[in-house]
Amino acid sequence: MFRTFFPVFVCYCLLFAAANIGWAAPTVIRFTHVVGNDTPKGQAALKFKDIVAERMWGRFVVEVYPNSTLFDDDQVFEAVLLDDVQMAAPSMSKFSLITKKLRVFDLPFLFQDMTAVELFQNSVEGQDLLTSFSDRGLIGLGYLHNGMKQLSANRQLSVPQDAAGLKFRVQPSDVLKAQFTAIGAEAVPKPFSQVYSLLSNGVVDGQENTWSNIYSKKFHTVQTHITESNHGVIDYMVVTSRNFWESLSPEDQRDLRTALNEAIAFANSLADKNQQDSRQHVIDSGEATVVQLSKDERAMWVEAMRPVWRQFEADIGKELIDKAVSANQ
Ligand code: SIN
Repeated sequence: MFRTFFPVFVCYCLLFAAANIGWAAPTVIRFTHVVGNDTPKGQAALKFKDIVAERMWGRFVVEVYPNSTLFDDDQVFEAVLLDDVQMAAPSMSKFSLITKKLRVFDLPFLFQDMTAVELFQNSVEGQDLLTSFSDRGLIGLGYLHNGMKQLSANRQLSVPQDAAGLKFRVQPSDVLKAQFTAIGAEAVPKPFSQVYSLLSNGVVDGQENTWSNIYSKKFHTVQTHITESNHGVIDYMVVTSRNFWESLSPEDQRDLRTALNEAIAFANSLADKNQQDSRQHVIDSGEATVVQLSKDERAMWVEAMRPVWRQFEADIGKELIDKAVSANQ
């Protein structure tokens, strides 16, 4: 009897004491994303959770929901705005309904590598983008890396003509649609959670993604070829809602920013190795053939896709495109 009721009694006393001395329950920060825990974004979210647990115990608790378990990427902005989740890190291509400026990250063959992406993001212009859509009720808290995109399909893609007539799943971005139209292919915008089944059921013939996303979601098991094209980038912006952010004290904002910046720096430092390891796992699996482009073949892809820049110059702004180009050193 005593053993049964004593713990309940202690809990009751603690709750009573907490209520009377004004202990507030910690604020829950739900962090939703669509990829696995073993990807750069998954690692950043878990690191942020750990840092907050260690340093802000009793003030904040971070709950991480990976693999679209809470929201899919076509619902995420609404979820943040409605305070159903407090943080998310959608890829920049998913911001097309929020702002046209971030389209710069989707332009094909703009960034030569992740060093250039980082340099641009750290520039004044790149940092300004984080708050450029605050009138939409959202604030960017930082950039998070994934990596360069590769093209996959159920046939070898060595020159742009090889892709003509094929259907490719894309993220919901007009730039990405135009990129595939430019090579005579059809772009099919769908959420990330559907890509594996779209590929395995043959609803689409191919897709574009980073090595870590391809490997962690097993896309290489349902595609015969992956062309190492590095033709674009998938990177993320960590977002929160203005309502949530402005409800926090300046001290809480400062501490959360510090925690997030550290988590981002940690994950970004691992991102490149994560891509290389995933690439090697794909090769070792022998499931899909990895296709290398010759210099001339690569030049043909660049020539076919580059006209897309002009199409979106007015939306993005020529100065911003020039700034991004200048990050290639
Ligand atoms: C992600 O990395 O968050 C998803 C990318 C995609 O939708 O292809």
